Amino acid sequence: MTSTERARDVIRWCRQLAKLSEDRSATTRTFLSKPMREVHTVLAAWMARVGMAVRVDAVGNLRGVYPSGVSVKPASAPRFFIGSHLDTVPNAGAFDGVLGVILAIALVEMLDDKRFPFAIEVVGFSDEEGVRFAAPFLGSRGLAGSFDAALLDLTDDAGRTLRDAIHGFGLDSNRIPDAQAPTGSLGYLEFHIEQGPVLEHLNLPLAVVDMISGQSRADVTFSGMEAHAGTTPVKMRRDALAGAAAWITEVEREAIATAGLLATVGRINVVPGASNVVPGQCTVSLDVRHPADSMRRAAADRLSRAAAEIASGRGLTLTNELRLDQPSVAMDSSIAAMLDRAVERAGFPAHRMSSGAGHDAMTLAPRMPTGMVFLRCAGGISHHPDESVREEDVAAALETGVLFLDEVAQAHHG
Ligand code: HGY
Ligand code: MN
Ligand code: MN
Repeated sequence: MTSTERARDVIRWCRQLAKLSEDRSATTRTFLSKPMREVHTVLAAWMARVGMAVRVDAVGNLRGVYPSGVSVKPASAPRFFIGSHLDTVPNAGAFDGVLGVILAIALVEMLDDKRFPFAIEVVGFSDEEGVRFAAPFLGSRGLAGSFDAALLDLTDDAGRTLRDAIHGFGLDSNRIPDAQAPTGSLGYLEFHIEQGPVLEHLNLPLAVVDMISGQSRADVTFSGMEAHAGTTPVKMRRDALAGAAAWITEVEREAIATAGLLATVGRINVVPGASNVVPGQCTVSLDVRHPADSMRRAAADRLSRAAAEIASGRGLTLTNELRLDQPSVAMDSSIAAMLDRAVERAGFPAHRMSSGAGHDAMTLAPRMPTGMVFLRCAGGISHHPDESVREEDVAAALETGVLFLDEVAQAHHG
């Protein structure tokens, strides 16, 4: 099978898995949901067919090990990881995350039983987007060994704890420390759609990522007093939603005023949520990003102070729960150089770029040498059902992946 034919298969698989969803008419697949298990079933069968030993670890990551060619016990062979995430945002496209997992399996299949002096472990992370528990990277934190047990007490919208969700999926949260990568792991590679318009603009299929911007995330709750919409004079109200709305406008103003800053309120929850009741409580999400951590943190601090001022001016109380303070992360320079060479040997120009989107690679980078390859996506559209990739770009990524593994083997031999 040629790499183009394989690329066609990869795209078909991605579109097929997009149908495994919590919503009938859109792709929504959150941490350890029922469709996540269906995805595991489909991919585990494919992984097994290409000779991988498959398991689901205690934080719900699907993992398949393609053994090394060296005759040592499988657990002691050095290991190179390739993966991405299997969860999605609500109303997602078919490629964000899933493409990187399917591409990794197709890459192993393409090796046609060729072995390396290291095992290749393909990982489909259980959560990267952070939709269900408002905390991202749950899966890759497990592999990186940075999963904080306090996360187990987080609750989803149904009031279920993360611990319960793990047990409900048939897993043991006490075993999460066992999910971490062995010491001496050789590295982690992630293929992902660019999610922006740059590669299309440059007419390039691929880019090697050199750094990923940091993110702050928080849940900010304004609390006031529920009241009758028909009888309570506006000036006598403590309207939580009106306070939140004033702050949301401030978030946008801050982002416009600060070069390079991105600030987003993407979720809002109003209690009690009836048209004839003055809102008593309103929780809004905050997502702040900037390539420079000091700028990001300063902006997040200014926005926290603005929320407190708006709340006190309106007789509201405020809670501000920090959900993520993820610094910017540089990708490993040796892995990036090997990727540049692999891209060039595959016949494409090596192009470097940074990522404004977050990725599992951020979580893995402190644990092992980590690299990423972006694939061009049409119109830069992502986090949207119209997300798409070109067959020829997937073929380019597959060819690059095969050549990259040769580079890793050479480096491993020294
Ligand atoms: O939010 C992000 O940057 C990523 O798409 N998870
Ligand atoms: Mn995403
Ligand atoms: Mn993603």
